[in-house]
Amino acid sequence: MDLIRTAAELKAATDDWRAAGDSVGLVPTMGALHAGHRSLIQRARSEQDRVIVSIFVNPLQFGPGEDLDTYPRDEAADLAVTERDGVDLVWAPAVEEVYPPGVDLPLPDPGPVGETFEGAARPGHFEGVLKVVHRLFDLTGPSAAYFGEKDAQQLFLVRRMTVAEPEMGMTIVACPTVREASGLALSSRNARLAPEERQQASCLFLALTEAAEHARAGERDAQVLVALMAREIGGTTLARLDYAAVVDEATFTRAATIDAPSRAIVAARFPGARLIDNLLLPMPGR
Ligand code: PAJ
Repeated sequence: MDLIRTAAELKAATDDWRAAGDSVGLVPTMGALHAGHRSLIQRARSEQDRVIVSIFVNPLQFGPGEDLDTYPRDEAADLAVTERDGVDLVWAPAVEEVYPPGVDLPLPDPGPVGETFEGAARPGHFEGVLKVVHRLFDLTGPSAAYFGEKDAQQLFLVRRMTVAEPEMGMTIVACPTVREASGLALSSRNARLAPEERQQASCLFLALTEAAEHARAGERDAQVLVALMAREIGGTTLARLDYAAVVDEATFTRAATIDAPSRAIVAARFPGARLIDNLLLPMPGR
């Protein structure tokens, strides 16, 4: 496994692979790798000739007062994981390699969807995400890039960016959310939860599964599902509901009724960390 730090080396390595006719899979991460990340890496490994994992805590997607300085970092542990999973190349750059001073990089526009939900809670977040993802795509020219459904709004916006630029000629592969037995979605930030918070943190998944059960049983009114989710999370002593909503899967805007594929999404603040989760709803009666 190669560990490289510069943009020039990354580009050279991927250019060589493409010239040799190899397909290239890219898994962008911010490190602190867990089983959720590994599921993306393993999927890429099973589908592509070459696999790149990027490890970069992107300052642009953190707002003032967010946890950029304390975001968990453990490069040695991450490299052991990527080595074990058969990754070909890890790119772990310094900030200046990603954003060279004086160079104007493309700044893809997240549009109105970028200002709702996670974008409303974290102004500028999705501008930062799309800028770094675009830069990674530019440097590596992947055949496919792997993203987790865990971050559904991010996945939606990245996919829309690539659809708008078909000349990139790449596929976005969505990978299912990996959860603990309690239902809690794995996240690097879970480490910040005190034991009692961690126990209560499964309220997000409970809320989502309750909404899904009602949808399966025939409930088509999104407001009813939202109220159920808000009650579940609101009734959890250590959680403060940030939002609960049902969005149309095709547009990531609020749905009134469940008559097209829809996703329930939730966010809640615990004393130690802010958590998000989501679940695709079954179509009523199916
Ligand atoms: P990060 O939070 O490190 O996540 C990297 C990838 O792993 C994302 O695609 C995310 O959706 C996926 N992931 C995280 N937890 C998961 C879980 N429990 N199950 C399945 N997939 C999971 O998301 C980012 O980094 C950044 O925004 C990034 C895309 C790297 C841009 O900086």
